[in-house]
Amino acid sequence: ESKRTPLIAGNWKLNLNHLQSIAFVQKLAWSLQDARLDFRTVDVAVFPPFTDLRSVQSLIAADHFPILFGAQDLSEHDSGAYTGEISGAFLKALDCRFVIVGHSERRAYHHETDAIVGSKAAAAIRHGLVPVICVGETAEDLETRGASAVPVEQLGVALEGLPEGADFVVAYEPVWAIGSGRAATPEQAESVAARLREVIEGAMGPDAAARTRILYGGSVKSDNIASFLREPDVDGALVGGASLVVEEFAKIARFQ
Ligand code: G3P
Repeated sequence: ESKRTPLIAGNWKLNLNHLQSIAFVQKLAWSLQDARLDFRTVDVAVFPPFTDLRSVQSLIAADHFPILFGAQDLSEHDSGAYTGEISGAFLKALDCRFVIVGHSERRAYHHETDAIVGSKAAAAIRHGLVPVICVGETAEDLETRGASAVPVEQLGVALEGLPEGADFVVAYEPVWAIGSGRAATPEQAESVAARLREVIEGAMGPDAAARTRILYGGSVKSDNIASFLREPDVDGALVGGASLVVEEFAKIARFQ
């Protein structure tokens, strides 16, 4: 079991429009309140598409729901001629707490390099957002270099541009486990998470290593979440598919 407050994060990816997001967050909040979830013991966050953020912000503020939220990406730039981009300042103005950077889908489909992911993480920090830095190996990496080599490299680069004392989250998502129904074992997740904590210690110091939450992501469901949370270096989960079903995501948040 980890010493940090677990974070259960739902990455909606390209799902749920702004009307659906309102219904979803409302149901999620009611369901967690019905189940008497103690929000002092777990952080629950959703990551809707950009166009939902304003609706989610208004709903959460109006009803005082103790649910956190963030965006799925941001620009490494603060303003200027970057058509289609969204800055960290814009996200901060919508009360986003977090922003995902370097998700494997962005690395694969939008050619985001480790260096770009690093400048996005730095942009997030610059604007007072907590970046959720995603790292993970493909099936091929796993075969040729083992589980931790690529995530260690990716995280090393991402941390290079972060200021001392920066507040960030790491999500270890093996690419082969994402959406495949084939989650890593808790032991596999723990072994990479422990290596990543050493990387944090080397780059940012022992306090940062002790404080930073490392999430596991990849086919997390209500029936396997507890086994991951039993590991000392796994401090929560970044959930994709299972975060789109209110009851299932609520169960994951109530893993205890
Ligand atoms: O960011 C979360 C994600 O990539 C994991 O997706 O559907 O395997 O839970 P899924």
